[in-house]
Amino acid sequence: MVREYLLRDMYFFILSAPLHPNATNMLKLKMKTDPLWVKHIAEQNIEEILIDHAYCEQKAASSAISLIILFPEHPDLVSQMADLAQEEMGHFRMVHKKIMDRGYTLGRERKDSYVNELVKFIKGKGKGREELLLDKLLFAAMVEARSCERFKVLSENIADEDLSTFYHKLMISEARHYTMFIRLAHNLCPNFDVDARWAEFLEFEGEVISRYGKSETIHG
Ligand SMILES: [Fe+2]
Ligand SMILES: [Fe+2]
Repeated sequence: MVREYLLRDMYFFILSAPLHPNATNMLKLKMKTDPLWVKHIAEQNIEEILIDHAYCEQKAASSAISLIILFPEHPDLVSQMADLAQEEMGHFRMVHKKIMDRGYTLGRERKDSYVNELVKFIKGKGKGREELLLDKLLFAAMVEARSCERFKVLSENIADEDLSTFYHKLMISEARHYTMFIRLAHNLCPNFDVDARWAEFLEFEGEVISRYGKSETIHG
């Protein structure tokens, strides 16, 4: 009952929370999360935030493993994804410890509508392997970029010092991952205009995140 009440408040706030347009930051994201999100949603719902976050780390590890299976012909990709899968599961372990330290239990995976919306950008049949790889790398880069931005906002605004430090460290990791995926796209997809496709994707993501809150979710 308590959780239902908190979630209802959280969804209401997402519906009403503005995102700042034209944000300029290193990630080039078109929309920046309002810091009030931390005060009005995250801090009031740490259990939900941590559980959702744990699964974000698990999915990052799983998608790194999927890239190895899908594109084993690229040694650089295989090596870097093997490292990444381990690092992301390390993050999962850290988040899970935060969950346990606070007396919570992981629970089931939360629906991630934001990521499901992003997938629409890279869907489409008849693509060759290089284009498929490009889409998957840019998709991973986008999720890392938005995660990085969320962690930055959390680290700068959350009152809990332990979580502030925690999210600052993770922000640095996700920024590095974002850069790695963009670099891999340039190196492994030379027949495509990576910058132009990335610019299109940024526009798409900006549109997705700007109308977020219409669906019941805590991510995005
Ligand atoms: Fe991570
Ligand atoms: Fe990451």
